[in-house]
Amino acid sequence: MMPLTPRKAKLPRLLDSEPTSAEGVPSPVVRRVERFGKTTRWVHWCFVLPFLGLAATGAALALREMLGLSERSVDAIVFLHGQIAVAWVVLPPIVLLSGQTRETLDDLLAPWHFSRSDLRWLLLQPLAALGRAELPPAGKLNGGQKLNAILTVLVGGGLLVSGTWLWFVPAALAAWGLHLTLFAVWVPAFCGHFYLAALNPGTRHALRAMFVGTVDRSWAEHHHPAWIAGLEGSDAPVPLQLRAHRAGARDAETEHG
Ligand code: HEM
Ligand code: HEM
Repeated sequence: MMPLTPRKAKLPRLLDSEPTSAEGVPSPVVRRVERFGKTTRWVHWCFVLPFLGLAATGAALALREMLGLSERSVDAIVFLHGQIAVAWVVLPPIVLLSGQTRETLDDLLAPWHFSRSDLRWLLLQPLAALGRAELPPAGKLNGGQKLNAILTVLVGGGLLVSGTWLWFVPAALAAWGLHLTLFAVWVPAFCGHFYLAALNPGTRHALRAMFVGTVDRSWAEHHHPAWIAGLEGSDAPVPLQLRAHRAGARDAETEHG
């Protein structure tokens, strides 16, 4: 019987030769590297979508007078806020436990390995932006992303505790103050995260990773060199998808920030 090919099989890491099109013209190659598995991506979105729903319904509640909401509308929004809260708490663990749990736990725990190099990466940002310092090579997540993830856990945890408290004791002033303050802290952090993930030309390549899992390898070599070096140095398991995209390759060349 043929041995089964192990999952971490020797997939080709790089495409050494450029593929040739039907007309015999060589195509530029965009090499991809897998960044996030399916479960990590689903956990992110199952956490994010209810979170954004909570933020929207919460903002409407906070601005209820300004928006002139009737008592009925407020009641309906409070009800919706509660239902979304349940989805927010329940969905991510279900997804985590029903998929590639170990790989995803590795991704979820990575931010808590915050090294001196991550701290240096963060502290040197202003000088690096002025071209006066070189950043230490970032791993899979850089210091800023690790900080974002840690803040997400702290702020999210605080919102969960204060929200549950408010649910059971609606008049609790401390819970209300904490809930509203954490919401106010989260808004600018989210704007920064959204800008970097979806808008900023130098970093928005990562958005692909949250939808299809892979990123352009040369982008990753530039932004996360220690991660790529680590993959090359191990027998690791990272399926590289090798694809030829003429236009994609051109875009990648022009957009690496
Ligand atoms: C387990 C999660 C959560 C629960 C159980 C919860 C519960 C609640 C409750 C009971 C209220 C008071 C509603 C009322 O006025 O009667 C409230 C208000 C609010 N929540 Fe949440 N919440 C949760 C998560 C969140 C999250 C993640 C956010 C933001 C991203 C958020 C933002 C807000 C805001 C802005 C208000 C309005 C505060 C005000 O009245 O000024 N909540 N929440
Ligand atoms: C529509 C809004 C959002 C988009 C487009 C988005 C996109 C992304 C992308 C592309 C990544 C991967 C970055 C990389 O590969 O380097 C990521 C990571 C992450 N996202 Fe989001 N995200 C959104 C909303 C949120 C929200 C609301 C939260 C939390 C409340 C959140 C928490 C995180 C965390 C903790 C990470 C890992 C650390 C980091 O890369 O900063 N995201 N997100």
